[in-house]
Amino acid sequence: MNQPVVSMPMTADAAIGIFDSGVGGLSVLRHVHAALPRERLLYVADSGYAPYGDKSEAAIVARSLAIAAFFASQRVKALVVACNTATAAAIQAIRAHWPQLIVVGIEPGLKPAAQQTDSGIVGVLATRSTLASQRFAALRQQMEAQYNVRYLPQACVGLVDLIEKGELHSVATVTLLEGYLRPLVEQGADTLVLGCTHYPFVREAIELVCRRLSGQVPAIVDTGEAVTRQLQRLLNNAGLLDQDGAGSLSGFTTASQSTLENAFGRLLELHPPVHALAAG
Ligand code: DGL
Repeated sequence: MNQPVVSMPMTADAAIGIFDSGVGGLSVLRHVHAALPRERLLYVADSGYAPYGDKSEAAIVARSLAIAAFFASQRVKALVVACNTATAAAIQAIRAHWPQLIVVGIEPGLKPAAQQTDSGIVGVLATRSTLASQRFAALRQQMEAQYNVRYLPQACVGLVDLIEKGELHSVATVTLLEGYLRPLVEQGADTLVLGCTHYPFVREAIELVCRRLSGQVPAIVDTGEAVTRQLQRLLNNAGLLDQDGAGSLSGFTTASQSTLENAFGRLLELHPPVHALAAG
């Protein structure tokens, strides 16, 4: 399944593939779906393998290449890696295997956060794997050289599992968040970067916990919309924006179809057909 596909027709009516380890990428898909209503969108939730954040880089690369190969078999024109963890670990490998494909990834919004913070202290919530990656280290170094900002990275181990289960406001979720947010608030972070695409779905819980801890709600940076603008720009530059398509959305999952169907309904109020995707 990981063999590079040598030639793929690049036409405007080809689909756009979007994937994440699970339902997190739906926080990116919602922007893509709203901004590009004429496009044919395919979403893969690799929930059978979630979370990626605690896996080895090799395992994340293998999963990402397997999903990219599926999209290549569907002859997509563009691929959105709607997962910070997979972007950090695997975007280079994806681009190397499919150089003719438009590939857009997502990274923690360190730059917009540096531009907004008043205290100069920014909390970065992400998976352990993203925070340990070379890409994150390079971005952080570059931003710290350019702006008067201090980043406080905080791995939110366990949070993706709760979000995958649909626990957006549960006691377990609020308690876990409290443990991760307290040190950031106490050190004066006035801005929080959501460096994992699952986290926008617990934004309300994050705001609630911060208000409880400090009486204030921090500025929150989510890069889903910026990724969509970048996708739009690249498609436009390549002459591949679909101008007259009817627009459609289909879901694929390596876990339970009904779980993804429910997530689409609950998180986005969308009801696309959802298909099983064989893992591997
Ligand atoms: N949603 C993902 C991200 O943006 C991955 C979370 C995970 O599977 O650990 O990092």
